[in-house]
Amino acid sequence: APLSQCPSASFRIEHHHGVPISAIIFGGRRARLAPLVYEAFDWEHGVFVGATMASERTAAQFGKIGEVRRDPMAMLPFCGYHMGDYFEHWLNIGRRMSHPPRVFHVNWFRQDENGEYLWPGFGENLRVIEWILDRCRGEADAVKTPIGYVPTPESLDLTGLDLPRENLEKLLAVDRNDWYRESESIAGFFQMFGDRFPKALWDQLEGLRLRLRSPISLVQPGSELRPLAAELNETITRENPHVYAMLSEFGKRLYFPKGILAQSAEAKEKAKKYDATIGIASENGKPMYLPTVMKYFNNLSPTEALTYAPATGRPDLRKRWRDDLLVKNPSLQGKSISIPIVTSGVTHALSLVGDLFVDKGDLVLLPDKFWENYELLFGVRYQAQIGLFPFFSASGGFNVDALRQALATRAGSWKTILVLNFPNNPTGYSITSNEAREVVAALIEFANEGRNLIVVCDDAYFGLFYDEAVLGESLFAKLAGCHERIVAVKVDGPTKEQFVWGFRTGMLTFGAKAAFSTDALYGALEKKCAGAIRSAISNCSQVAQSVLAKAMSEEQCAVER
Ligand SMILES: Cc1ncc(COP(=O)(O)O)c(C=O)c1O
Repeated sequence: APLSQCPSASFRIEHHHGVPISAIIFGGRRARLAPLVYEAFDWEHGVFVGATMASERTAAQFGKIGEVRRDPMAMLPFCGYHMGDYFEHWLNIGRRMSHPPRVFHVNWFRQDENGEYLWPGFGENLRVIEWILDRCRGEADAVKTPIGYVPTPESLDLTGLDLPRENLEKLLAVDRNDWYRESESIAGFFQMFGDRFPKALWDQLEGLRLRLRSPISLVQPGSELRPLAAELNETITRENPHVYAMLSEFGKRLYFPKGILAQSAEAKEKAKKYDATIGIASENGKPMYLPTVMKYFNNLSPTEALTYAPATGRPDLRKRWRDDLLVKNPSLQGKSISIPIVTSGVTHALSLVGDLFVDKGDLVLLPDKFWENYELLFGVRYQAQIGLFPFFSASGGFNVDALRQALATRAGSWKTILVLNFPNNPTGYSITSNEAREVVAALIEFANEGRNLIVVCDDAYFGLFYDEAVLGESLFAKLAGCHERIVAVKVDGPTKEQFVWGFRTGMLTFGAKAAFSTDALYGALEKKCAGAIRSAISNCSQVAQSVLAKAMSEEQCAVER
């Protein structure tokens, strides 16, 4: 019978461009061994899971009841060529795909010691399918076991199902000894296929046996969504689902651990004489120091010079930078922007944008005159697809038409990262007020078509404006909060504005729209940035921030500039 007669066949099967497949599910019928559901680690492991699929014979089948019958991918009776080549074919397909489907194994037939089925089956199986779909979206928790990812008891939606917790634990249990025995039976099965059997699957078997014997306890792997990250994602989704949709895979996983702040607060309270909780040795409440080091700092205390700064920077410096932004950018009056996060220079602020928003293959759009480090940063580090449009129009101004066209021809691409740098390196060009107005209108038009945009304003050279027609403030001031699909990001900082290049002090500020509270949205984005900072450089130079906070609070500082 043709597939079209199958009631559950999607109409999309006729589409010439194909159907994206998120998950492949193999099923086995095992009374003891296999958990209700588990996910393979990756494609190759998934092929191994498919190749080792097995069922125990029931009364309905010929043979001894309970005997294990292996039927790889349920294809043994149907495959018209050597099964070794068939497996190789599966492995090769995976090597060609940039996003291979995830592979799962289900077992509806697990029994308890008395031979009672632990899982109700039938329509309730949808609960497992739901977990599988959530996994594909990166939204369901799992524990890494030697055989694959198994749901945490809380991650399965069991609402309204009368399933004792004890049964759930039995359904999800992975018994190392049983599986080790299984691995020996698998080895015997693999041997049947002789020389044509792929080595990669033997390696998988060896990997499984090593994991089963490994005495180390397994921590959730990096691809898992930790509860704190899920909390931040929930906040971002509530405040602005478009911003959530634009986060990179890494951005979705980012969070800032609670422990660090809590621990250092506790130590402050309780450690009277020595405190080395967060890597700072102190003596009688003050940091320990070497006089040979401190003698170079005449007007800084050891605390200001030597201790760690918070992951997002010194609060007083952040507040000062924000206050100054409002003065330097009059259009920000009445708009909501985040409190700038201190970064290790403007370059680092740009890579935080990459961490949060850029995945391999995402489009980063640039005018064709750009600071060459963008190529290394967005192209090489984050593997973005860089798209260039001509910077100058025929009349020598900024080419707004080219920008408009570049955006228009990306039709169908749902997310674009646009990086604009004025005053521009290398041309020195600054955008005029008229061009700025046109750019903002073009971007809003683009967003109105339902496409999401991150606009990064690289204001590293802010303030070097010498012409009347030039926009005397950052484009960021015009873009912050202008559309729910546009996130404006300002990267700037004292490195160039205060002539302290080697201090490595930059700033990162967001301007976006939120459904209920921009503070909540910015708070969640800030925590994600803090996590990105914490996991790469931990925090930025305290001594540089102390000097800047002090110097910038002196009126003379602005006068000198
Ligand atoms: C456009 C632009 N952005 C950022 C930077 C880097 O700034 P930072 O030294 O603060 O990392 C430079 C040059 O150094 C630049 O030309």
